[in-house]
Amino acid sequence: MSFSAVTPLLQTLSTSDEVTLMSTTTWTRRHIISLADFTNEEYDTVLRTAASFREVLSRRTKKVPTLQGQVVANLFFEPSTRTRSSFELAAKRLSADTLNFTPGSSSLTKGETILDTAKTYLAMGTDLMVIRHREAGVPQAIATEMDRLDSNVGVLNAGDGQHEHPSQALLDLFTICSALDPDYPSFSLLKGKKVAIVGDILHSRVARSNIWSLTASGAEVHLAGPPTLLPKLFEQYTASRDRPSSSLIPHPSPGKLFLHWDLNPALEDADFVMTLRLQKERMTQNLLPSLREYHQQFGITSDRLKLCKPNVKVLHPGPTNRGVEISSELMDDPKISLIPQQVTSGVAVRMALLYLMGSGKA
Ligand code: NCD
Repeated sequence: MSFSAVTPLLQTLSTSDEVTLMSTTTWTRRHIISLADFTNEEYDTVLRTAASFREVLSRRTKKVPTLQGQVVANLFFEPSTRTRSSFELAAKRLSADTLNFTPGSSSLTKGETILDTAKTYLAMGTDLMVIRHREAGVPQAIATEMDRLDSNVGVLNAGDGQHEHPSQALLDLFTICSALDPDYPSFSLLKGKKVAIVGDILHSRVARSNIWSLTASGAEVHLAGPPTLLPKLFEQYTASRDRPSSSLIPHPSPGKLFLHWDLNPALEDADFVMTLRLQKERMTQNLLPSLREYHQQFGITSDRLKLCKPNVKVLHPGPTNRGVEISSELMDDPKISLIPQQVTSGVAVRMALLYLMGSGKA
């Protein structure tokens, strides 16, 4: 189910005349579960709206009344530091009331089902639910149930198993576009750029969401990792992108996806390098000989970056394991690392998503 909102952002964003970035925004998506069917217009809307909120966050008073009276529930069934805090801060900056759920101290321990927990939050008047779960499909199941109940609730996937993590990929996109043009971080800036995604691709929902957004932008995406962490099944993403727009995945893609079991070809002439954590909590068997050997083969260091474009930038969704997927020295190098900017961008991008999803209900 979808709803339509044409929102005069100028009116809702500012109590003064200070915001001049946008006039109107159209948004028709009720839930954000995956980026597989995101359109280029939606990417651009998110980027432009996030740029407006970045401006709000640079003011002395970093708060707007946009979602006043609305309730945002953060239902994190899996541990999280930055995503959860970022969504909470974003909701508070929009003046929404926030509810935070911790599974260990909830009625889940008394046998309540996840859907019943979600329905409890619905009955309390929740407008937006931000869901993280270790199993793929839980946010979609809750969204389907909310629609079946004919509720107005919007569901945002904050990471489900190995499936997707759309808000992370959108904040990565905003960070990359802002590095290319700080004033106008638009989607088209990525066309022809080379982005390497390195590491534990198999277990990464971040990589899966980034594959959709980055290839849709026209960037070349080069995945690199050992064969145990980058199985050939990832070639199916390239195949599905080549299908006509009437197919199951109706996304037009001018971008290309490449797989490498060696790091060097992925790094050669790269504009951006995204490193990923080895997600041991999702590994069911021993997939690596040792962390030391992994670092030698796939760890990102200043020396390795010499293969890339001279002003290459490095990203990491966090949390990082210093000295494993990325050297400690590189992580702290402000000329190369965009990691702090990713965290900062996260608040503006999540404000944009909550705003766009919540605007139809205001
Ligand atoms: C990622 C996640 O949870 O998928 N982190 C995040 O949301 N910032 C990546 C990870 O856990 O390694």
